[in-house]
Parts: sequence; C-alpha cells; structure tokens
Amino acid sequence: MADATSYALLPTSVRTTTESSGDSSLPASGGFFFLSFAVVLITAVAFALGGGFVKDAASHVVGAISETDLDGELQNLHSLHPDPVSRGPVLGVSEKASGGSASLLLGGHGGYPWTNDMLHWQRTGFHFQPPRNWMNDPNGPVFYKGWYHLFYQYNRDAAVWGNITWGHAASRDLVHWLHLPVAMVPDQWYDANGVWTGSATVLPDGGLVMVYTGSANSTVQVQCVAVPADPNDALLLHWRKHPSNPVLLPPPSVLPHDFRDPTTAWVDPSDPSAYLLAIGSKNDTGDRHAGVAYVYSTRDFLSYRLLPGALHTVNGTGMWECVDFFPVSVDGARIGLDTSERAGDGVKHVLKASLDDDRHDYYAIGTYVAEENRWVPDDGEMDVGVGLRYDWGKFYAAKTFYDQNKKRRVLWGWVGEADSERADVSKGWASLMSIPRTVGFDTKTGRNLVFWPVEEVEFLRTTRYDFSGVTVEPGSIVPLSMPTAAQVDIEAQFELDSAAVDAAVDAEIGYNCRTSDGAAGRGLLGPFGLLVLADSVLSERTAAYFYVSRSADGTLRTHFCQDETRSSHASDTVKRVVGYTVPVLDGETLSVRILVDHSIVESFAQGGRSAITSRVYPTQAFNRAKVFLFNNATSAHVKAKSLRIWEMDSTFNHYYRQEAVQICSN
Ligand SMILES: *[C@@H]1O[C@H](CO)[C@@H](O)[C@H](O)[C@H]1NC(C)=O
Ligand SMILES: *[C@@H]1O[C@H](CO)[C@@H](O)[C@H](O)[C@H]1NC(C)=O
Ligand SMILES: *[C@@H]1O[C@H](CO)[C@@H](O)[C@H](O)[C@H]1NC(C)=O
Ligand SMILES: *[C@@H]1O[C@H](CO)[C@@H](O)[C@H](O)[C@H]1NC(C)=O
Ligand SMILES: *[C@@H]1O[C@H](CO)[C@@H](O)[C@H](O)[C@H]1NC(C)=O
Repeated sequence: MADATSYALLPTSVRTTTESSGDSSLPASGGFFFLSFAVVLITAVAFALGGGFVKDAASHVVGAISETDLDGELQNLHSLHPDPVSRGPVLGVSEKASGGSASLLLGGHGGYPWTNDMLHWQRTGFHFQPPRNWMNDPNGPVFYKGWYHLFYQYNRDAAVWGNITWGHAASRDLVHWLHLPVAMVPDQWYDANGVWTGSATVLPDGGLVMVYTGSANSTVQVQCVAVPADPNDALLLHWRKHPSNPVLLPPPSVLPHDFRDPTTAWVDPSDPSAYLLAIGSKNDTGDRHAGVAYVYSTRDFLSYRLLPGALHTVNGTGMWECVDFFPVSVDGARIGLDTSERAGDGVKHVLKASLDDDRHDYYAIGTYVAEENRWVPDDGEMDVGVGLRYDWGKFYAAKTFYDQNKKRRVLWGWVGEADSERADVSKGWASLMSIPRTVGFDTKTGRNLVFWPVEEVEFLRTTRYDFSGVTVEPGSIVPLSMPTAAQVDIEAQFELDSAAVDAAVDAEIGYNCRTSDGAAGRGLLGPFGLLVLADSVLSERTAAYFYVSRSADGTLRTHFCQDETRSSHASDTVKRVVGYTVPVLDGETLSVRILVDHSIVESFAQGGRSAITSRVYPTQAFNRAKVFLFNNATSAHVKAKSLRIWEMDSTFNHYYRQEAVQICSN
C-alpha cells in the first residue's frame, strides 16, 4: 500500500479502516490515498501528549483497556446485571420484528404483490439515501474544510439491519451528495459487533474527533475514538481508530448494553481546557425505568471522568438513545449557536433523547447549570420523553450539528420504512434521511423549537404553480392541476371563515389526531388541508390537515395531523393518523409547507413549530401522483389565501470518483 510507511510509525493495531472495507459498490479512490503521513504522526503524538494520563480514582476508565482487562470488568458487571438483551431486530432497530405489527411486516405470507415499477418509484429524488442497502442513525455530521459530511449507520450486506459500518457522504450544499467509501468497519475486537452511533467535535485548531459507540458483542457497548487519517483531506476519506480504544466503559452502575451514542463535546464552562460530553443510558432501579444522560469530562478524548449525578433523568421513559444537548439563542439574535456557547443571558439549552421504548425523539428547552452538572426543563410537565417531539411521524435517532459555515444549527433524522421487510429486500434498500432542517428557538411562543428545511432545498424548485385564492366549501375537494406531483414543495396559508369559528362553541373538546378518524372524521372546523400522492379517483391519498377544536376553557386549539390510513391499497404497510396540537398566535393564519418526494411526505406547520414525516407506498397513485385541496369541516369555508407548488429537481447524487468531486465542487 502506498502509505504503508505511515502505518509502521503507529501502533500495529491502528489501520485506516477503509483498507479492509472491500465495498465493491464503491470504486477505490485514486488521488486521495497518498496522504501526508507527517500530519498523521503529529496528530497521533498530539493525542498521546495531550492529556496527562493520570489515573483518577473517581473515573471508571482511563487510557487503553485490553480485551482481557475488559473481560474482568465485564464479568463483574454481568454478575450484577444478569439477563442481558441485545439491541437489534429483536429490539426493533429494524422496526420490523417488534411490536404489534411483527407478523404483518415480516411479510411471511400474503404480502402485497409489489411490481418492480412500484418499488422503483419509491426511491426518492431529493432526499439523502445510500445507493443501496440498509441505513439507520445519522452520525458525526459536520462541516469541514468546505464540505458537509454525513456519516450514517450502514449495512453494506443487505437491506436489513446488521453488520453496522459507518457509511459516508459529502456535500457542498447539504442537498447534492457524493457517496464516499465507508469510513469505518467493524475490524477491531471492541467494535466487532458494529461501529455504532457517534458524534463529531471540532477542536479549537480546526481538528476533528469522532467519539462513537463500539458494540463489542451483543451485550457490551464501549466508547471509542477515531480521527481523520489525513486532516488535510477535505473529503475525510480515511479514518484512524485510536490505539487507546475503547476509551470508556460503562460505569459499574449501568447495564453494559445500556450505554451508547456519545454527543458532540462542549467546552466545560468552568474549565476551558476540558470538554464535557453526554451519553444516554437507563436506570431500572426499583420501578423507575428512567432514561438518563450522564456527563463525562475529558481533556484529551482518551481519559474520562464521570461527573457526579446526571445531567437529567426522567422516570418511566426507558433507555435514552442518541442524546443531543445544545444551546439555542432565545432572543432570536442568532439562528444557531456553537455547541460550546455558554448558558446565560439569551442562551438556553435543549436536551433531546430518542426513546428506545417508543421510537420517538423528544426534547425540552431548559436551563443548564454546568457547575452542578444539571439541566432543568422550563416546564416540568413537558419534560424530555413526555412532552414535545422533533417530529410527530416517522423520525428517530436525530442529531444536530453547528454549521459554522452558515452560522446555523442543522438537524438530521433517520426516517425508516413503514413497509414490510420482504418489500425492503425486494427493492434492495431501506431508510432515508429527513431533509436537513435548521433548528431554532421559537421567539414568538417562547416554548418550543422551530424546524425548517435548509434554504438550499429551495434551489431545487423548478416550475411553480400558483393556486392562491381558492375557496373550498365544507365537504368538498378541489383538484390542483399540474402534470405530476411525486416531487413537489408545497406552501399554503389558510383562512377559516370567522363566522363559523365564532358559532362553533362546542367544537370537539378533546380532539386527538391519533385517535381520530383522520381526514374522514368530520367536525365543525376541520379537517381541511391537502391530499398528496393521490390518484385521480382518490382511492389513495395522504392527507396533511388542520383541525380546529376548542379546549375545555373555550379557547381555540389547532391540531396539525397527517392521515396515512388511505395512502395505499397494500395491507402490509403501517398506516396511522399522527400529529399533535400546534401553537397558533393571535392574528396568525394557518400555514403549512409540505415536501413530497415519492415515498416520503414531510410537513411543517406554523413555520416549523410542528413537523410530521410519513412514509407511504401507493399502488395506484405512483407515477401519476396528484394534489388536491380538501375541506371536510361541516360548517366552515376555508380559503387558501396563498397556495404555491413547485416541482422539485432530483439531486442525482454521484459515486465518489475524481470527476465527481469536480462536479460537486462547482
Ligand atoms: C461479550 O464480551 C464480554 C467481554 O469480552 C464477555 O464477558 C461476554 O461473555 C460476551 N458476551 C457474549 C454474549 O458474547
Ligand atoms: C453479516 O455479514 C455476514 C458475513 O459476511 C453475512 O453472512 C451476513 O448475512 C450479514 N448479515 C446481515 C444482516 O447483513
Ligand atoms: C438509579 O436510581 C436510583 C434510585 O433513584 C439511585 O439511587 C441511583 O443512584 C441511580 N443510579 C445511577 C447510576 O444513576
Ligand atoms: C422517580 O422514581 C423514584 C423511584 O421510584 C422515586 O423515588 C422518585 O421520586 C421519582 N422521581 C420523580 C421526579 O417522580
Ligand atoms: C370526508 O368525510 C367523509 C365522511 O367521513 C369521508 O367519506 C370522506 O372520504 C372524507 N374526505 C376525505 C378527503 O377524506
């Protein structure tokens, strides 16, 4: 190999991981393999010198741990915690073998007879997805030397979960992607069962560190460090796992398989030479079943000290996966803050956890008291895991990063499939990434975040159709004439007639999207909105709609819901009505933005106060998808004050080759 010399300078256990990846789907690199090994060496030395390897009695792990040491420690842990359970299809990582829909979605018998045309159509045009096979969580998103990087949990072998590596792609604009060779594969004993989720931290000198979870085997999760093999390579093609791995073992008090997904590190406000990072876990003491985020302090990313207590814990919420913790600007002055921005005037902190129990991403906004290693939610009733969600549909394991290029915080979420595993295997792929969304504090309500597709998505808009001013009578449907609507961006603002609102004194107290009849459940002031991915006779359609009701105290409540129940004739897909109330302030019109991209519908209500993502698999509406306005309220007229629909270009993502790098750079 061209860079064999650089290997010789480092411990034998360190290799650039793509060397052994053998991914035949991705052409081997040409020019980027001749790395400057001097830089590699400097990085390694800096790591070794950086931290003062002082054993700290309070910490559980310091420096390198051998497999034998680990065995001893884990024997102890195992005797404390018998009955280990693995994470994987049995725990629903594939979401096919778990829960009530198991037999349905494993697709053993009687599944829908999907044709190749239908399956082919389901692939998206402008969302990120790997060229083939299984994907789950976004990992280590970061902006580095002019490129956005997205790593992701990836099975190179099949369209089902397993053999997890770090897939990798890079982009100039978060929309057009270059598919790169896998960044890391399970080639060490400590990640032999999978290179699991992790986060990137950008160091003050511009350097980059990844901290990720190694799944040593089905019962043991450890934290590991990887650095770019060549920090000068803007494409970050090669990664070097640190010889000190694993750098962090589960503390004795937690189950060794309940310890994963380290966050991006932030500078310790009380000690600028130290970093803090959080890791999610679970406390099953007594009947707590509590989700918890622990915080570790580190100076060199190699030795760690567990801070006393926990950043936060909530009874009854179960295992917290993919914890995220970041500051937001509450005065609206800045749309994104660096992860190390301190709490204080105008800065609050968001804590997010992905609940393994119900597979939703919950967040709350609160106050970070760093000196007490504590975060307190503004509203205890709406705590993490019980209150607000990033998205009310299919959206999980999300991660944000601070984009220093455009001074914004950007969110990626994993959007799984809602069809059968059999269909996934037939089509040869499973899962998408959500559209990247900017995340900011809602200065108008002061109580929630707002999520909005990054502005680059608008560059993909082509032909525009304007249907503004259309009025929809109660109980009617208006077709919107355009050639094809499988890839569209819709923006709509609705006005509800005020006489009907005033008259609707008893409107549906206690309305709930989930338990409602969706678009077919008629009330005084709803449902109304848009039907997308519909066939011309409406035998299939997905409804994104508002439903206005009153609460017990007489005030109006607005619900924003998505009804998937009539999205497909196929019976082997999950179809639900999802959604929640969305805040609407005095004088605001009801507004929604909907991104339709073949089998995904992502909606954002009231400027992004509420988001819903659906996966739908039409059998009639595919290839000739239509859009309709509908109003199924019994008494209110609805006017689409403005309604514009853009056709969306495809992004035609490239495989990595020198020429493709040129194309993406221009
Ligand atoms: C996982 O690895 C640990 C440490 O090497 C070992 O003690 C344990 O028995 C292993 N468990 C399984 C299921 O292989
Ligand atoms: C994992 O890799 C092994 C060895 O290549 C293969 O036999 C197995 O089918 C793979 N498992 C999955 C779930 O892809
Ligand atoms: C788990 O919860 C129990 C009961 O509240 C508490 O005593 C214990 O310290 C917690 N364990 C950890 C590791 O946080
Ligand atoms: C959480 O559960 C523990 C044990 O059941 C209990 O002692 C504690 O008060 C609970 N915490 C809250 C905030 O309810
Ligand atoms: C409106 O409600 C009726 C009655 O429930 C239902 O048959 C119809 O399908 C609904 N319209 C839409 C567009 O869902």
